[in-house]
Amino acid sequence: MSNESNTMEKIVALCKRRGFIFQSSEIYGGIGGFWDYGPLGVELKRNIKDAWWREMVTGHDDTSVPLGAPSAFDMVGLESTIIMHPQVWKASGHLDLFYDLFVDCKTCKARFRADQVESSECPRRPSKRPGAHDECELTEPREFNTMFKTYVGALLDPTAEVYLRPETAQGMFVNFKNVLSTSRVKVPFGIAQIGKSFRNEITPRNFTFRSREFEQMEMEFFCPPESSEAWYAYWRDRRVEWYVSLGLKSEKLHLREHGPNERAHYSCGTADIEYAYPFLPKGQFGELEGISHRGDFDLRSHIEGKLIRNGDELVVERDEDGQARHAGSGKDLSYFDDATGRKVVPHVIEPAGGIGRTALALLCEAYDEDAIPDEKGVPQERIVLRLHPRIAPVKAAVFPLVKKDGQPEVAARMYRDLKKRWNVFYDEKGSIGKRYRRQDESGTPFCITVDHQTLEDETVTLRDRDTTRQTRVRIADLESTLAEKLQS
Ligand code: GAP
Repeated sequence: MSNESNTMEKIVALCKRRGFIFQSSEIYGGIGGFWDYGPLGVELKRNIKDAWWREMVTGHDDTSVPLGAPSAFDMVGLESTIIMHPQVWKASGHLDLFYDLFVDCKTCKARFRADQVESSECPRRPSKRPGAHDECELTEPREFNTMFKTYVGALLDPTAEVYLRPETAQGMFVNFKNVLSTSRVKVPFGIAQIGKSFRNEITPRNFTFRSREFEQMEMEFFCPPESSEAWYAYWRDRRVEWYVSLGLKSEKLHLREHGPNERAHYSCGTADIEYAYPFLPKGQFGELEGISHRGDFDLRSHIEGKLIRNGDELVVERDEDGQARHAGSGKDLSYFDDATGRKVVPHVIEPAGGIGRTALALLCEAYDEDAIPDEKGVPQERIVLRLHPRIAPVKAAVFPLVKKDGQPEVAARMYRDLKKRWNVFYDEKGSIGKRYRRQDESGTPFCITVDHQTLEDETVTLRDRDTTRQTRVRIADLESTLAEKLQS
């Protein structure tokens, strides 16, 4: 990892140059907090999502007890809608509580998150903290609900108001009974979902880190109350291992357990998996994923109505007539526990991560600069993305050394063969050095080059991105060699 202080600027520039990430609607000046993923970015995200889905759903073996788990368990997937019945967000508490506090400057007309005033900059020059200029006039902090509102149907009146979901989680809670009664799963089991979420962040910033439209990967794990603490510990530790398996190692990744005062009112335990993104001051970490022990809060909310804390208990919030302020569905979301012969509302453990933040952390971890000798042996600076082969957008690039002597035909044939299995790239333009450099910047782990010797002995060179070492491999062994190196 490069030590230079402007690493983040270089990563943003690389993401644009190589087609990972573009500003949304850029030709119209862009729109804050929205990002488009280009040809390489979309592959990177797809690989992260595939890795997560395999880890959580398709790779899960429900017949054995995973290492460290209290018991065997079931796991299924779900895709729920972005727009849901508005009562979902009233009962869940989002309508009342999903807000940020903001501060306006009446002079500059700029808006800041109240908790970020100290680290923000006033638009006036010279740049200072908001409120630091004599002319600045900051308002008191005010509430701002960060759910995007829209309308369903032709009438634009309050009865037609709905929200873009700010998290995928609620789709899994309201489908708990559907899944339980149709999939032959038994508690303990998890429901996993990947999908878009939307938050009207007051100050989207730090590239894609705080976006207004982003993708989440969330899993709601329904378990008996008695074993919920053990399940919380299991998922917390397992999720850290997953990030390590994708290449986030070193002192930049850590797990931070929240103190009792930091937790949400419903949480019985929360830990954040955090990464030291280069845009943060030294020693600071940003959230990648949160793992929460949510107790029975969510299912009870959707049964009874919006809950509030009363001492040690969560109770239904009532209006002056004694009615639930925001009614739940009234449906029975309990399960029958064979062990105790009782009906129980399960507790929930939730690992909730972001695809964009994972992609950003992986790009930051992978970014490196080194010097390698050119064709004449002179050291040349290079930028290289040392992405884990499992998540690299392109797995291998195939080149003919020269555009003649039958080399392009052999290379194209090899490209077509490998393409059946992996995302492979073909390039015959420019010097071989430049072609290697382009792939290094794209994070492509291997380059395969057809040269004069290929036509004599049916071997090619296989170049390793990280070491730049080249070995000769028989064409007949190429696929199996690559499969071993790519672990796929
Ligand atoms: N259901 C719980 C939940 O949504 P969260 O901590 O608010 O919890 C989970 O969000 C994850 O979603 C975060 O750890 C982060 O990776 C991602 N995320 C949240 N807000 C985001 C934003 N504005 N931009 C990008 N990712 C975000």
